[in-house]
Amino acid sequence: MYYTLPELPFEKDALEPHISAETVHYHYDKHHAGYVDKLEKALKSETQRALTLEDLIKKSYKSEDASIFNPAAQVWNHNFYWNSLAAQPQGGPEGELLQAIERDFDSVDDFKKEFKTKAASEFGSGWAWLVYDNKMSSLRVLSTTDAVTPIVAGLQPLLTLDVWEHAYYLDYKNERAAYIDAFLDKLINWDFASTLFERQALAA
Ligand code: FE2
Repeated sequence: MYYTLPELPFEKDALEPHISAETVHYHYDKHHAGYVDKLEKALKSETQRALTLEDLIKKSYKSEDASIFNPAAQVWNHNFYWNSLAAQPQGGPEGELLQAIERDFDSVDDFKKEFKTKAASEFGSGWAWLVYDNKMSSLRVLSTTDAVTPIVAGLQPLLTLDVWEHAYYLDYKNERAAYIDAFLDKLINWDFASTLFERQALAA
């Protein structure tokens, strides 16, 4: 095996009532695991298997090898997504991350508004992200289409929301906005985002 599906950081029913155990089951055991299988089948050489997942993603993006890039990036994005969700409610950002959000978005509410707009307006399947841009020394919100991940642009993701329909359709049907609100108000793993932010921004 090149890559093994990581364990979920919480029990499958831990996100209820916002995301059901059934959604987590299909999303993790079928979709996420499916991308791990597809990646395994797509790898063609020992050179590819010698690369880290991040390097494989960057290399296949550059060479436009979608057969590798799509499953590899989807594995990475889903790993990151599960860690972006908190089983225990967290009040909001604190410390250095809070200061940076207030500096770059004016307030936590303004950050949420911008994130919601990006997540809601991504046409079709994709992802919404809070990233740290090392070159600009600032936080940014952006969305990506299909499997595309900000690491190919050298950005450090801090949080992501999967806005493919499989992430919310069982619980919210076509109401993507309600799923986005649940993430922003109840599910963000601020501790995870803070740890990554402090590692990146404060080390610079
Ligand atoms: Fe997904």
